[in-house]
Amino acid sequence: MAETARKILTLNAISARGLARLPQHYVVGGDVAEPDGILVRSANMHDMDIPASVRAIGRAGAGTNNIPVKKLSERGVPVFNAPGANANAVKELVIAGMLMGARNLVPALKFVEGLGGSDEEMHKATEAGKKAFAGIELPGRTLGVIGLGAIGSHIAEAAIRLGMQVVGYDPAITVDAAWRLPSQVKRAESVEDVLRMADFVTLHVPLLDATRNLINAQRIGLMRPGAVLLNFAREGVVDNAAVVEALDAGKLHAYICDFPANALKGHARVVALPHLGASTEEAEENCAVMVAGQLADYLEHGNILNS
Ligand code: MLT
Repeated sequence: MAETARKILTLNAISARGLARLPQHYVVGGDVAEPDGILVRSANMHDMDIPASVRAIGRAGAGTNNIPVKKLSERGVPVFNAPGANANAVKELVIAGMLMGARNLVPALKFVEGLGGSDEEMHKATEAGKKAFAGIELPGRTLGVIGLGAIGSHIAEAAIRLGMQVVGYDPAITVDAAWRLPSQVKRAESVEDVLRMADFVTLHVPLLDATRNLINAQRIGLMRPGAVLLNFAREGVVDNAAVVEALDAGKLHAYICDFPANALKGHARVVALPHLGASTEEAEENCAVMVAGQLADYLEHGNILNS
């Protein structure tokens, strides 16, 4: 029987190992007309005129907020994503973020960059930096994890290995995920409980109506003085203006996030990264392999393994 040469439109660069999961006779590229499927990473598809020929979408990542999922599901078009495929990458960056906050790494680097004069003069000036940027250590401190999916639970496990106490909250945790959580993770009753108990708070929730501005002025008010807030989830889950106010008031020690924003720009206690959480060779490959496989399986056999 002749094989159908399905067409896949790629909206972002997709790792070669992922593309290799598509049958060889598929036509794949950034400009194919009348595609059967679309592979996308973070390109925004909300304003896109999605061709009527499209039967499935593969999102090489965990979040699907760049895709009009509801509109597509009304058309019977499934959206496959890759939950967990980039969890290790995000976990590593969150641990790095905690260390940045705990040891004041970014302001300390800026301080050294700003030093001038002879080597001797600079060495003398380091004394002031040593005092100003003295930090804290992680063992014994409490990490609050809001959202205990693949990423949140990975981070909880790593933090326990680092000697931290972990308190977590997720109203929608699955039975499987709950079983996988290390027994040392204390389960809180609410977001507020986590905020009251933690020295570091990390967010791992999708951006939904219910999570927009989840961390607002009122909730920041519940946090421990000098806490570090980490947001490697989505920008909209935190109210930037409230964070800046809390940083200026000395209520929060640092805000480490994965998104640039004018409201945060230039703030000495903010570290803002260009959405690097899942940007590793390994994560990009894992996500692409997972979704390309799902997309091909659906187009060839109608199997839905995740949507
Ligand atoms: C995700 O949702 O998995 C990340 O935002 C992935 C990405 O950087 O595209």
